[in-house]
Amino acid sequence: MSGMEDKITSLLAEGKVYPPPEQGRDQAWVKSMDEYKEAYAHSMNDPEGYWAQRAEELVTWDKKWDRVLECDLSIPEVKWFVGGKLNLSVNCLDRHLINDRRNKAAIIWQGEPEDDVRVYTYQMLHDEVCRFANVLKKKGVKRGDRVAIYLPMVPEMAIALLACTRLGAVHSVVFAGFSAAALQSRIEDCHAKVLITADGVLRGGKAIPLKASADEALLSCPSVECCVVVRRAAIDVEMKEGRDCWWHREMSAKDISSFCEPESMDAEDMLFILYTSGSTGKPKGVVHTTGGYLTYALHTAKWVFDLKDNDIHWCTADLGWITGHSYILYGPLGLGATTLMFEGVPSYPSPDRFWKIVEKFKVSIFYTAPTAIRALMREGVEHTRKWDLSSLRLLGSVGEPINPEAWMWYYLHIGKEKLPIVDTWWQTETGGIMIAPLPYVTPLKPGAATLPLPGVDAAIFTEEGKEASPNEGGHLVIRKPWPGMLRGVFGSPERYKKAYFDRYPNIYDPEDGARRDEDGYFWMMGRLDDVINVSGHRLGTAEIESALVAHEAVAEAAAVGMPHPVKGQAVFAFVTLMSWAEESDELLAELRQHVRKEIGPIATPDVILWAPSLPKTRSGKIMRRILRKIAASDFADFGDTSTLADPSVVDELVDTRKKLG
Ligand code: PRX
Repeated sequence: MSGMEDKITSLLAEGKVYPPPEQGRDQAWVKSMDEYKEAYAHSMNDPEGYWAQRAEELVTWDKKWDRVLECDLSIPEVKWFVGGKLNLSVNCLDRHLINDRRNKAAIIWQGEPEDDVRVYTYQMLHDEVCRFANVLKKKGVKRGDRVAIYLPMVPEMAIALLACTRLGAVHSVVFAGFSAAALQSRIEDCHAKVLITADGVLRGGKAIPLKASADEALLSCPSVECCVVVRRAAIDVEMKEGRDCWWHREMSAKDISSFCEPESMDAEDMLFILYTSGSTGKPKGVVHTTGGYLTYALHTAKWVFDLKDNDIHWCTADLGWITGHSYILYGPLGLGATTLMFEGVPSYPSPDRFWKIVEKFKVSIFYTAPTAIRALMREGVEHTRKWDLSSLRLLGSVGEPINPEAWMWYYLHIGKEKLPIVDTWWQTETGGIMIAPLPYVTPLKPGAATLPLPGVDAAIFTEEGKEASPNEGGHLVIRKPWPGMLRGVFGSPERYKKAYFDRYPNIYDPEDGARRDEDGYFWMMGRLDDVINVSGHRLGTAEIESALVAHEAVAEAAAVGMPHPVKGQAVFAFVTLMSWAEESDELLAELRQHVRKEIGPIATPDVILWAPSLPKTRSGKIMRRILRKIAASDFADFGDTSTLADPSVVDELVDTRKKLG
């Protein structure tokens, strides 16, 4: 064991509580536990009064709301700031132009090549956003229309999102790592009118085509009338006459002005759709609306990141995920801060890339995922020592439970035992952070997301719907509505109700397991549904299974999560072949490739195990509990197997698993 591991193990064994730093507390937005407690009590006793105050303080409204909240969770239907009017791009741009921020950096963009840096001041960003909004207008985009965005992490992505909000068009970003098939099904679901994409993506020093996937998707997307293409990777692409156009050409057209009148939107008008995996095969189009989402993003950015004017805020997520929406774009820009966007990956060209960027731009707030921390941990601490990290004042974590070892490493080597770590629990559906420490206030316990933010009525329920005792594991639930909550699943009110409000009537069910300790701290335990969390990305097992079964050689498939030292979880698939098909390494490679093509590289199974058959109950239900244990090579106790139609199946799978090692 190395000295570093030694230190981490012994510190963890102490079960120590880490007090919040004193340095910086005087300037913090929230300065004491009492302030937190008071705000929390206010938000629980008078939610409408609390949120009205926050919305007034944080958001610039064209017209104030008539009613703060209209809510009936039995339908479910939730409306915040009813009758209020606002424009999101005005809140992120225009309002900063009339104060001192006109010439302040809004976005610092670091491209994958070191010398590729672009800085947009608030004025420049405003002008670019208006120009692109005018381009979209010229293409016929109107308020309420959906615009699909399939782009790498280039500044045009931020511009495109903000331009949609300028016009009141609804953006739906599809992560550029998703396949053509995944893009196609998302565009089809939301009937997007326009697609914005790029020729390619720069990744790990290579140029990877993207437009080709977009073209493939668009073969069966009749709703898309126009495709705007950003030139990024110098890849030759086919441009379809009458449909495709280049971003740079459109933006430099003579009739495109750098002013565009913002649409005054209703607080409850749809702002964006973001697809995420759930228990069923088809991803859900999570719907967020304008007034509540913005209020919540700003409120949480201010409280959890203590965001100030002189901060350089770096959230390492991709804009294709909710983390990017709320804490690269809308949160920081709404508060008038400087946000850093990074196109590359932590490991290229070397595993010190993150720390080099921290030094280069004097990053003060750094927000990343446990999977990245674990990957960097493996590379050794020397990489962190090459660069000056003294500009950092706050660290954050998101996406999955952070294991205490990774927490300690982050605390010791990046935080130098001085900086707070905010472990933030939330979801695509929640719009913003729900459970997290307040950086200068909350004592930290490595691995705990700590306490709910004001307005978040979180609890742990037993199966029967009673509140669990301290330290008893159960279902995390949220009992009151909050402004950032999802307003629906696009096109499917039934799924909205069934997925989130079915288990406990009138209570939001995030499908996460957790326990609450004697201090009221929340410890997250992972998903309770059939969702796998691979490197902080949600993947539905049903999606992976349907991708596998779509291959002609596959008769049946079951995918489960398997513990993985860096990714948190990896995909483990059990595959039963058609009687005519033969097990072979070629077929194995083909199946992995097939899943990549159907969903994307992140869904590729790490392990595929040939299963002559799957353990099923007499009623035909696959017993996933057993498969999860086999995948984890945990053969000790399979629990009750008496309901299995054929218990010998399990022995066979165990033998094969043992051979795999
Ligand atoms: O299981 C929880 C886990 O990630 C899920 C939400 O994934 P997604 O919608 O993709 O959003 C990720 C970024 C907000 C949750 O249901 N999760 C997220 N953050 C944490 C977490 N689990 C434990 N601790 C966290 N800090």
